[in-house]
Amino acid sequence: MAETETAPPAPACTLVIFGATGDLTRRLLMPALRNLRHAGLLPDDFAIVGVASRDIGDDGFRDRLREGVDGIDWFIERSRYLSGKFEAPQTYKALAGLLAPDRNVLFYLATPPSEFAVIAAQLGKAGLLKESGVAWRRLVVEKPFGHDLPSAVALNKQILRVAREEQVFRIDHYLGKETVQNILVFRFANGFVEPLWNRDRIDHVQITVAETVGVEQRGKSYDATGALRDMVPNHLFQLLTMIAMEPPTCFAADAMRNEKAKVLDAVRRVEPADVVRAQYGAGRIGGETVKPYRQSPDVPPDSTTETYVALKLAIDNWRWAGVPFYLRTGKTLAGRRTEISIQVKQAPLALFRGTPVESLPPNDLTLHIQPDEGVTLRFGVKVPGPTVKIDGVDMKFRYEDAFETVPSTGYETLIYDCMMGDASLFQRADTIEAGWRILQPVLDAWKQEGARALPTYEAGSAGPKEADDLLARDGRRWRTIRPNEKDRP
Ligand code: BG6
Repeated sequence: MAETETAPPAPACTLVIFGATGDLTRRLLMPALRNLRHAGLLPDDFAIVGVASRDIGDDGFRDRLREGVDGIDWFIERSRYLSGKFEAPQTYKALAGLLAPDRNVLFYLATPPSEFAVIAAQLGKAGLLKESGVAWRRLVVEKPFGHDLPSAVALNKQILRVAREEQVFRIDHYLGKETVQNILVFRFANGFVEPLWNRDRIDHVQITVAETVGVEQRGKSYDATGALRDMVPNHLFQLLTMIAMEPPTCFAADAMRNEKAKVLDAVRRVEPADVVRAQYGAGRIGGETVKPYRQSPDVPPDSTTETYVALKLAIDNWRWAGVPFYLRTGKTLAGRRTEISIQVKQAPLALFRGTPVESLPPNDLTLHIQPDEGVTLRFGVKVPGPTVKIDGVDMKFRYEDAFETVPSTGYETLIYDCMMGDASLFQRADTIEAGWRILQPVLDAWKQEGARALPTYEAGSAGPKEADDLLARDGRRWRTIRPNEKDRP
């Protein structure tokens, strides 16, 4: 987590991007690099080597980069391209020819996940991950990291056969978001928060990642993945651990990751009965008609993949015992919002005997991650008038009102941190595996029961009724998901 005003430029290095002709390079990596250069955080001695199978040559690669992003001439001068098959040893021989042994190198796996292990193994065989003297060699792995517990364990094993854990940077792009990093600042830089943050004061926590988009052109890969694997063990569990972790002794990578690991270890394995899955049907969002998921490109018409999931988790430790954490995420919902809502226990009611409990507004502290970035605190006030009537009002902090925003893809911090060797915003092997371990019973149960329990929800709604029932069982309700002005269908 860099403090940009005081941060130095990264040391001289080469960024080798596997899968460099793909979407991620143009859409995220190049704009992020450009922003980093703007902020003075890249070294003058910086180079890019793109590796992919297409035979397009240096010029073809540079043209491709130029098409995707403006203002990157500085990078074009420093970029090379290597065409080769990921499984072929010659590719790595040729790559070694472009990298001096004493050069710092960041190998970025921006490829389909099926290639991760192959590339890591070949890099290892070619000796490209060997660190000689002061030069470092690092491996950045994109998500998804495995598709269940055994595959994640196997991938970790394969990678750790050729690299040390400190050389591996497993990306979860949620950790690059300002507002996600702000969760820790909000919790640990404000003295009033800690006394609230426990089972004595908190009734329950809701974590919502609602999207208005459908699967768009990703039908093929999404259909093999589904909402649970796509979002929960990574993005939602990151939010969960940042909300629930104990204060680390410092912000060093292992201090932070040890605390996160402890939270995941304390999460009870999920009971399939505490999970709701559903798939979107037809509907309307922002005035536009949305076709059912099963009619999306490359999705089989009888697909049983879930596009929505809601679950209830329990954390068995002294801080959180008895406080349910409800998580939900879905595609084509009524509004786009990622938020964490901390619902505080009701005040003792003695003073307001005449007021029905349900009309006393619960204190709700909401951390808005996106698209409205900020924090809201809801509390009760007296409605003006001769009698005592209570209503809930919101006190709001909005980032855009308080600060000038800087252009950001969310990848800037992550790339810079890799170059600086700061792994605090990256996933460690054990936390990845702990996430899958929590969910494995659900994956097993779903496999057994097939599609029997797959309800549908209307596109543009707040999700399936079954998700409401999950909370209603405990006498609780989800926060409403409605469109906001920043929503785009
Ligand atoms: C990705 C998922 O990791 O995160 C996508 O694969 C999802 O399905 C995306 O849409 C959400 O990211 P963001 O930054 O838009 O919240």
